[in-house]
Amino acid sequence: MATKQASAPTPLTREKLIDLLNEDLSREYQAIIAYVNYSQVLKGAQYMNIADELAVHATEELAHAIALANHIDYLGGMPTVIPKPVKTSEKNEDMLRFDLENERVTIANYRRRIKQCDELNEFAIGESIREILMQEQDHLIALATALGIDPPNPGIAD
Ligand SMILES: [Fe+2]
Ligand SMILES: [Fe+2]
Repeated sequence: MATKQASAPTPLTREKLIDLLNEDLSREYQAIIAYVNYSQVLKGAQYMNIADELAVHATEELAHAIALANHIDYLGGMPTVIPKPVKTSEKNEDMLRFDLENERVTIANYRRRIKQCDELNEFAIGESIREILMQEQDHLIALATALGIDPPNPGIAD
């Protein structure tokens, strides 16, 4: 029978941070693709403002992806080329909810990543992610507003 040891948390390394930043980069690609698709598939007069806003989000996510790829390269890693999967729907509310959930997960991860960057004394990368985080928070608020709900508290990733 396998004995489960109370494992001490494995110390964070630069290699681990590269892997985590590549996960973030995959999420940014996912966001770009989702916003490109949803900004055009959304239908109906009352959704045109948010559709325009989603097209702006797409360009901001692209800037985030480039920033992350820059940090990964600086750390000696290879920036990934693989996005996380993107859900599609023809229903306006589905698309907004998919985006809201993606932003929530992204924010929870960036909150953790800032702490991890600081832990490794990578303060400049942490600063860059703080700026990205501010925009993700704006995205979350825009989507929640369009859905007529309060912005969810994203929490912080493990
Ligand atoms: Fe982003
Ligand atoms: Fe975003």
